[in-house]
This record gives sequence, C-alpha cells and structure tokens, in this order.
Amino acid sequence: MEWTPDARELADLELLLSGVFEPLTGFLGHDDLHSVHERGALADGTPWPAPVTLHVSADLSPGDEVTLLDPEGLPLAALTVAAQEPDGLTSGPIKGLGTPEHGPFARLRRTPADVKAELGGRPALAVTMRGPLDDLSEIVATAKELDALIMLLPLSYGEPGPAVVRAALRAKEKLPEDTIVVSVPLAPREEPEIDLELREHVATAYGAAEHLAGPDPVHIPGPPHRRGLVVFFTGLSGSGKSTIARGLRDALLELGSRAVTYLDGDVVRHLLSKGLTFSKADRDLNIRRIGFVAAEAARHGGLAVCAPIAPYAATREEVREMVESVGADFLLVHVATPLEECERRDRKGLYAKARAGLIPEFTGVSDPYEEPDDAELVIDTTHISIDAAVSQVLGALRSGGWVR
Ligand code: ADX
Repeated sequence: MEWTPDARELADLELLLSGVFEPLTGFLGHDDLHSVHERGALADGTPWPAPVTLHVSADLSPGDEVTLLDPEGLPLAALTVAAQEPDGLTSGPIKGLGTPEHGPFARLRRTPADVKAELGGRPALAVTMRGPLDDLSEIVATAKELDALIMLLPLSYGEPGPAVVRAALRAKEKLPEDTIVVSVPLAPREEPEIDLELREHVATAYGAAEHLAGPDPVHIPGPPHRRGLVVFFTGLSGSGKSTIARGLRDALLELGSRAVTYLDGDVVRHLLSKGLTFSKADRDLNIRRIGFVAAEAARHGGLAVCAPIAPYAATREEVREMVESVGADFLLVHVATPLEECERRDRKGLYAKARAGLIPEFTGVSDPYEEPDDAELVIDTTHISIDAAVSQVLGALRSGGWVR
C-alpha cells in the first residue's frame, strides 16, 4: 500500500535516508521510544536522543510493505512494517527509493558522506540555526581557536525554513570564503534539551568536531493590520451569515486598506466545490477547500471572509490550524440566529422543502449543526439589523488592530 507521511515525518524520513539519523535505520516503535524517553538510548542500548516516529491511519501487519510518498506522489522510501500500535504508530526499517528533490534550496541539502568528503579530514565547527545569527564574532573566534572550517547548518524545516537558509547565506558572505552552508530539514523537538542533543547529533553526523547552537529565533509577528486574517462565519442556512459577510466585504473594500478575498458558501459550491454533496465527508472537504484558499490569501497578508455553514467543530478547528500555521490570525464568528427564526424567515424556501422531505440531510432539520464554543464573536440577528451586525464585526476588527 501507499502512504503520504505528514510534513514533520517527511523531514525525518529525509534525514533517515541521507544518513544524518544514523545509526537509525527506520521509524521507532513503542519499546525504542520508551527507552529513548527514559535513558536517551534505543532499547538495545545504542545512544539516541529523540523520538523519530511515523503514524499511519490504515491497518497494517508486521511484514507489510508500505511505499512512502512525498506530497506530489513521488515514491521516497519503502517501509517494512515491524509493528503497529493501536494509535497508528508504525515502526520498521526503510529503504530509499528516490532522492527527495522538492522544496526551496534543494541544492543545499547534502548528505553527510558528501560533506565529509569535501571536508577531507579538516576540523569543522558546525553552527545549527533556527533563526538569523546576529553576532558572528563568537563563531569566527571559536573557529580560529580550533583552526576549523565553519559549517552553517540552517535547520530548514517548515514555514520559516527558507528564511533561515537565506539568513545562513547572508552570514556566509561575512565569513571566511571556505564556509560551507548545508540545509538540514530538522523538525524541532518539543523539549529544548532533546532538540539541542539532536542538533549536536546532526553536527557530528556532518563531520563537525564542535557544535554551536545559534540563537533561538525571536518570532516577532508583524502588526495586526499587516498580518493575514481569516474571518470565518459559521451558522445555519438563513442565519444571515452570507448577508453579514457580504456587508463586511463591502465595508472593507470601501475602507480600502486591506486586500479582501470573499468565499461565501453558496458561491464556493458553484465552482471550487461544484459537485460535492451535503454528506459529512463532502461538507468536510468543502470546508477544507475553503480553509486552504483562505489560508493562501492570508499567507500573503490578505484578509479572507468565509461564510459556509461549516457544521462540524473538528473541521472548523482544522481550518483554524491551517490559517495559524501560515502565521495569520483566525476569527470565528458564530451567527447564532436560532433555527426557529431561520425557519420562520425561510428566504430560499429550503426549510419548507426539507420539512417536506424533499431535501435530505438538511442542516438543523435532518443533519447536525455543532454549536461552536470557541467563537471570538457571537451574533444573533433575530433582533438586530444587518448593518448593526456588520458594525459589530468591523468593531471587533478595529479593536483587534486588524483594520485601522
Ligand atoms: S457546508 O455544510 O458544506 O458548510 P455550505 O455553506 O457549503 O454548507 O452550503 C450551504 C448552502 O447550500 C445553504 O445555504 C443552502 O442554500 C444550500 N443547501 C442545499 N442543500 C443543503 C443541505 N442539505 N443542508 C444545508 N444546506 C443546503
């Protein structure tokens, strides 16, 4: 069978394949993880500092072969399953099938063997980086003292990855000419000491005699009015969410200070989600698509206004995470007009049809709506005008600094 690991697992896979994670030969199982956690060594006593795990949510048996794919479907490795835990944790040795060649700065991702050959036995001082190096003098002094070559190892995992590599290339310009830059897709581990030990392991794997950990990145998010924002309306059909969302979009366009993307539920279903039904699976897919587009707009500082029903809490939460993972903010607005009021208005005549059994799986009638308990704003339109509702949302955007 085939499986696409997530971004973090793929980063680990790449390091397993290139030999950076030697002596590991694959993903760790329950016993090894327990032992790593307890005493910093695998179950057989081999020192190893950190968890390296894979989760597969398909039932597997020992001996099964799994082809691990990159997100574009390229086979990267074959995994022979040793064991699978009930939670999907899957262990076993891997064999490389292809060289990962995706991503920015792919040319700077080199194997330890290649880098060691270039060093040719000269001592090297490795500097692992998760952010820019603001002071090069300590590095230069230490390298001089050791008579060592400087090797910058930007840990190029995830969203800030390319920026870290660019910071390494900038630093290289101010360092001795023979300074080497190798990009290492090492995902950070939760505990700082374990992360540091793993960074030391990486430095040693690349043949460095000494290791300096670069400063922790100070993440300074831009001011809210420059940050991406997704305003996500959720509520029953006929609750007024589309009307408020449209009013908000128009008000934002009149202010003119932000680039606006508008993704209404009905509008999305005419193109982006055309052909999808109202089954749970299709509704979830619909919401993920909306979330994906909204996050792309927000990634570049845009403001996306979404207004689907989005009846499931877990899926709304997924979208929140998608948006936050690109460094943007997420504002959930629950348009909480009660079912009775939506049905009384029945602007599109859909509730009557649903009651008559002409529309199956109709939200609120014959299909669930999970009320949010994490909404930043709750608006019931029973007794207030659309203008007043739009003002409330705009007021929240002003007071949060997203709109000036
Ligand atoms: S969601 O559940 O996937 O978020 P979405 O917002 O895209 O729903 O679409 C909801 C709109 O589709 C409603 O406003 C209504 O006009 C129409 N619709 C058609 N069938 C249904 C149904 N079974 N349940 C809810 N809305 C429906």
